[in-house]
This record gives sequence, C-alpha cells and structure tokens, in this order.
Amino acid sequence: MSQLKVMFSREQIQQRVRELAAKITHDFEGDSVIFVGVLKGATIFLSDLARAVSLDASFDFIGTSSYGNEKVSSGEVRLTKDVDQPITGKNIILVEDILDTGLTMTYLVKMFQAHQPKSLRIAALLDKASRRQHPVRADYVGFTLPDEFVVGYGMDSAEKYRNLPDICVLVEDGNL
Ligand code: IMP
Ligand code: MG
Repeated sequence: MSQLKVMFSREQIQQRVRELAAKITHDFEGDSVIFVGVLKGATIFLSDLARAVSLDASFDFIGTSSYGNEKVSSGEVRLTKDVDQPITGKNIILVEDILDTGLTMTYLVKMFQAHQPKSLRIAALLDKASRRQHPVRADYVGFTLPDEFVVGYGMDSAEKYRNLPDICVLVEDGNL
C-alpha cells in the first residue's frame, strides 16, 4: 500500500506554467515554435504550456523508453516514436516532465541537434538537479525538487496516477 501527499498543487502548477509560457512568448516574439513532448509524461504539461503561449505554435511527440515499469533507469535510451515533421531550420522546444539523471534528454538533444534546427531549447516541468549524471540544463524549469518519486499531472508509477491534477509524492506505508 502507498499514499499520496501533494507536493505541488494544481494552482501552483498553473501559476508556474503561465510564467514559463510568458517567458517563452517573450523569447520567441514574432517567430514560430514547435513543442515536442516526450511521451507520455509530458503530455499534460505540453497541453497547458502550449495553450498559454501567444505564438504561432505547433506540437509533436517523441517516444523514448529507458524505464519500463521500473523506478530505476536501465541506463540506455531507445526511440519508440519519432517526430512526424521535419525539424531542420525550426525553433524546437523539447518538453519533458522531469529531468532526472539527464540520460533521456542528453540523448534527445544529440539526436535533434543532428537535424540542425534553428534553435533547440528544453522546457522541463520538474528538475531533480541533485540526481544528474549526464550534464544537461533546461532553459525553462517549473520547479526543482529533491530526490523523491512523484506522480500526477502526467507522471506515473507503472502507468498509474497520470491523471491526478496535482503533483504528489508516492509515500510507501511504513515511511509515513
Ligand atoms: P532521466 O533519463 O534519468 O533524466 O529520466 C527521465 C525520465 O524518468 C522522466 O522523463 C520520467 O519519465 C522518469 N522519471 C524520473 N523521475 C520520475 C518520478 O519521480 N516520477 C515519475 N517519472 C520519473
Ligand atoms: Mg518521461
């Protein structure tokens, strides 16, 4: 059995997403952007972020796998779905739920850079900075958080809890 404890409420998330969107709108004023969400965790963040920017924007998704249903990374990244449109010469914003060890994002940045976009930026809702093993920095970060496993607002534990409106810590009974 495990219990859920709210770490970031839906109100805090909405406020922060609006701030990030304002920054993105300012940074790309007069230009267009493609949001590329990393499936599946980033879908809800992307849908809120994309609706809060005032820019000519489109979006796409990319699939990677390194976790399976484990909480510990297997240490390698595999592409399970590529983008549907050419990215050369475009402003790309990679949208991720959490930067953890940085393995996934390092792989994606390398892959996207090979296609020579006009610009490549990273928006991460959460940043577990203390866990980083592969040096990568997000340009837009929602919240930095300690080394705790969180679910909700798109994020899962073995595919559960993605639809929770708040970001919650999963506390195993006995650790309460
Ligand atoms: P990285 O490659 O180690 O940076 O792992 C990033 C991915 O691991 C994220 O996109 C998430 O899918 C997953 N992940 C890392 N920490 C958590 C967590 O606390 N909750 C849910 N998923 C997580
Ligand atoms: Mg993810």
